[in-house]
Amino acid sequence: MNLPKQARLVEVGPRDGLQNEKQPISVADKVRLVDDLSAAGLGYIEVGSFVSPKWVPQMAGSAEVFAQIQQLPGITYAALAPNLKGFEGALEAGVREVAVFAAASEAFSQKNINCSIRESLERFAPLMDAARQHGIRVRGYVSCVLGCPYDGLVPPEQVALVARELFAMGCYEVSLGDTIGAGTAGDTRRLIEVVGRDIPRDKLAGHFHDTYGQALTNIYASLLEGIHVFDSSVAGLGGCPYAKGATGNVATEDVLYLLNGLGIETGIDLNKLIDAGQRICAVLDKPNGSRVARARLASV
Ligand code: HMG
Ligand code: MG
Repeated sequence: MNLPKQARLVEVGPRDGLQNEKQPISVADKVRLVDDLSAAGLGYIEVGSFVSPKWVPQMAGSAEVFAQIQQLPGITYAALAPNLKGFEGALEAGVREVAVFAAASEAFSQKNINCSIRESLERFAPLMDAARQHGIRVRGYVSCVLGCPYDGLVPPEQVALVARELFAMGCYEVSLGDTIGAGTAGDTRRLIEVVGRDIPRDKLAGHFHDTYGQALTNIYASLLEGIHVFDSSVAGLGGCPYAKGATGNVATEDVLYLLNGLGIETGIDLNKLIDAGQRICAVLDKPNGSRVARARLASV
């Protein structure tokens, strides 16, 4: 299998990374993070969420963040929206791309968005109509693709079913989320093989949390399976409020180091990215979750 010449990284740090933080983070700090990421050459940044502030209080200021970031040409600044209300909020804030999210497991769907998988997909229908009317692109997520914190094993066929529905309703790309970060390379290859029967592989993305330290291996396995879009979070920030114990996404710096080593182009500047990660870690008063960033910083 030939590796791709280029890969796309979807930076989810400002959203998936920060959503789980209990301490207040100012709008100015969030804006600075997004602007730093733009300067580092990320082509796609998930800036925030238009979800219920009662469910995820940290994302409540997303409209203000959108109003204050410097939007550079050629970069996609996206937001998560769980329903039409969220879509309308995003639209009002000037967002030009949204992401919807469904789960592959019933229990996680209930805990995360308070409805069944079927109901969540039905809720997306009016959102997709509105997005089409306004020329807004919609990306889809499926969570718990390699296991659920409540239901345990999730069959790949169940993931394929949900991914197929998202794709059929108009999501241009479906990101497969290992929410609990427990999957292995073998699981990943099997998953892509099954989901890839229904959806072209160039329309799939990998979203790996690194709880068990398998994320980079799973990304390499995905590359071998023809996937070339990966979600990652600067400094490995994050975790999901509804997946206890799950750590953040794989660190963007670490994915970039892997891709650079394979000669796969992304257009991202590793040094600037490390600076962005260090700055937000200082704000959060947390150690940097990127091994590459820690190694580089220790060597200067
Ligand atoms: P609900 O309580 O069932 O909703 O929540 P509801 O329709 O009954 O409304 C309840 C209240 O929320 C009402 O307000 C609504 O107006 C309001 P009230 O009358 O009580 O004052 N409301 C909203 N407010 C703002 N924005 C909205 C919105 N919708 C309703 N969009 C709901 C259902 C989906 C809203 C809720 O469960 C929710 O917001 N969940 C979000 C959970 C979330 O953000 N989780 C993290 C992101 S997913 C993730 O991290 C996984 C991912 O990274 C992939 C992976 O790792 O696998 C993507
Ligand atoms: Mg996630």
